[in-house]
Amino acid sequence: MSKPQTKKRVGVLISGRGSNLQSLIDAARAEQYPAEIALVISDKPDAYGLQRAKEAGIETRVIERKDFADKPAFEAAIDDSLRSADIEIVCLAGFMRLLSPWLVDRWLGKLINIHPSLLPSFKGLDAQGQAIRAGVRIAGCTVHFVTAEMDGGPIIQQASVPVLTDDTPDSLSDRILTLEHKIYPEALAMLANGGVTLDRNRATFA
Ligand code: GRF
Repeated sequence: MSKPQTKKRVGVLISGRGSNLQSLIDAARAEQYPAEIALVISDKPDAYGLQRAKEAGIETRVIERKDFADKPAFEAAIDDSLRSADIEIVCLAGFMRLLSPWLVDRWLGKLINIHPSLLPSFKGLDAQGQAIRAGVRIAGCTVHFVTAEMDGGPIIQQASVPVLTDDTPDSLSDRILTLEHKIYPEALAMLANGGVTLDRNRATFA
């Protein structure tokens, strides 16, 4: 296989343990992978994902909401960091804040998220618990473009898992997480190499 010309520079926004970040870091190590993780931003100084990034030699920034007068100033700082690092694609990976339409619009078509449900079912927090309480037999995860509607943007990639009769939110989360780590790198690669684009609020596949 031939070497990709240039890898797209990716920024990852996290708030916590960063296992999805790790899956992206690991995938991006491959020479043929079309993206590199160039910057990790956390809104929590103690996020374990920051350690993962440092171990991988990736630049990190902590941008805390409390250090800014309002949400627009906080988001402007995130945007400035991304732009000054020449970031081309942004991945949300367990980033526990809703982005405003201002930031979403600035990155529209270049901003993706992973959510632990088969969207459009079970948006928001505790998606795995919502799935168990609803009694669904199949659950899963979704990578989607981020739009102003929370967990509502066009879908890029999904994977499903069975819900077992004795599942708890934790056991189901573990089973879903294994697949998150598979589909997030796949979806990022698709976006980075032009295999998917956002076109008038639809995901268009090449
Ligand atoms: C994952 O379940 C992801 O789908 C959701 O938040 C969780 C983050 O986990 N958005 P991690 O920090 O990537 O381990």
